[in-house]
Amino acid sequence: KRTAILISGSGSNMARLVEDMADKGHPAQPVLVVSNVPEAGGLAKARRLNVPTFVVDHRAHGGRAGFEAELDRVLRAARAEIVCLAGFMRVLSGDFVAGWEGRMLNIHPSLLPRHRGLDTHARALAEGDARHGCTVHEVTAALDDGPVLGQASLDVIPGETPEALAARVLRLEHRLYPAVLRRFAAGDTTPVLL
Ligand code: GRF
Repeated sequence: KRTAILISGSGSNMARLVEDMADKGHPAQPVLVVSNVPEAGGLAKARRLNVPTFVVDHRAHGGRAGFEAELDRVLRAARAEIVCLAGFMRVLSGDFVAGWEGRMLNIHPSLLPRHRGLDTHARALAEGDARHGCTVHEVTAALDDGPVLGQASLDVIPGETPEALAARVLRLEHRLYPAVLRRFAAGDTTPVLL
């Protein structure tokens, strides 16, 4: 399955997905890495991993509609069959998402449905959550709300900082997302639970 990955920053999740797809038996192959941020560190990682890259700068396309039209054009030109959002920090409109229904995945750093949106680690700590982690889900028009394809969880350490917790969750993300993509690309939507 031709797989495109959308990033906005360091691209550590993208790199793990691409590295895992290098395995010959993997049902997906990376065809494009797209960033909405021209200077995203993940673009250099993608180039080092020999994956074609493209920038669709959300500030340069005349608002959300222009940005999404260009993003859709780029993805279709690459004949993407699966789109993985990986540290992608733009909210996509319902219309855009409808065009990729059932073929777009996202990783969110919380145990959905808890803590949709931003600042998930600080919120988990503030609310005294005993458990925390990350979720891979199908993207639907509602934010952070589609069918869950996988979750990985850990014990919150009382008193740890949000940064420390985020770093521990990120390591779970790097295990979870590749496992979910392998299964999803093979047509299996049984949730991965780590
Ligand atoms: C991280 O905060 C991660 O939890 C979330 O996106 C951010 C950057 O990830 N999924 P990446 O290194 O760009 O993959």
